[in-house]
Amino acid sequence: FHLTPKEDVHFSFEGPVGHWDTAQLQRGYKVYKEVCAACHSLKQVAFRNLADLGYSEAQVKAEAAAWRVPGIDANTGEAASRPGLPTDPFPSPYPNSVAAAAANNNAIPPDLSLITKARHEGSHYVYSLLTGYQEPSSELAERFPDSLPSGTLHHNPYFANLNLAMAPPLTTEGQVTFDDGTVATVDQMAQDVAAFLTWTAEPKLVKRKQTGWPVLGFLLFATILAWFAKKSVWANAK
Ligand code: HEM
Repeated sequence: FHLTPKEDVHFSFEGPVGHWDTAQLQRGYKVYKEVCAACHSLKQVAFRNLADLGYSEAQVKAEAAAWRVPGIDANTGEAASRPGLPTDPFPSPYPNSVAAAAANNNAIPPDLSLITKARHEGSHYVYSLLTGYQEPSSELAERFPDSLPSGTLHHNPYFANLNLAMAPPLTTEGQVTFDDGTVATVDQMAQDVAAFLTWTAEPKLVKRKQTGWPVLGFLLFATILAWFAKKSVWANAK
């Protein structure tokens, strides 16, 4: 009964000549940082990877330093947080899974590094999930009364179980202020963070596509060469 991801958005990285829209990735990073990072980690990504998004080395350093990561107090030897370094991965917002579950009505917010790979049509799925919260339809209520949200669950027909513990995280225009002046509608923020999470899951996506063109060019060239070689080898045969 759950819906397949919406197809009505096009991402710049889709298709054979897809490319990253770095302005969009930077906006998506800001959505992650200011909204999603309150609950979701991004453990497979290090601050220095942000250089891919067009940030300078100095900007990456400053960005990393603005985050607190787990460390050890040099004097007491006890656990203490410290400012991040470019080589650190993005930290988890919770010290452990017990704390994560306790803060979220027993549901653990998954690490988002690979979520767009883990779900079918991941980029579109994340966008659809974020923009797809609804009141349960009366048809659902009639046919599947047991699948209605109860307690602290929220109805979302794009989620496989139809109800999830995450309240709609993007609710108001301007929730995030984009540095490039783009109007931060809910739809825009959802698209941008979906693009950002596609990059975290597959940073080499565009490079992989671009590699194909010279390969095809070489194959075409080699084919033409082989054709002329064949012509010349057989030129005198009857
Ligand atoms: C689950 C994305 C913000 C708490 C998820 C899932 C995604 C996601 C893709 C997984 C759905 C699945 O398993 O298919 C995002 C994004 C956010 C965001 C992109 C920012 C725009 C938040 C915030 C909180 C939160 C702020 C906490 C207040 C959770 C929880 C789950 C979850 C508890 C598990 C839900 C369940 O399994 O029932 N989120 N999230 N998320 N998120 Fe978020």
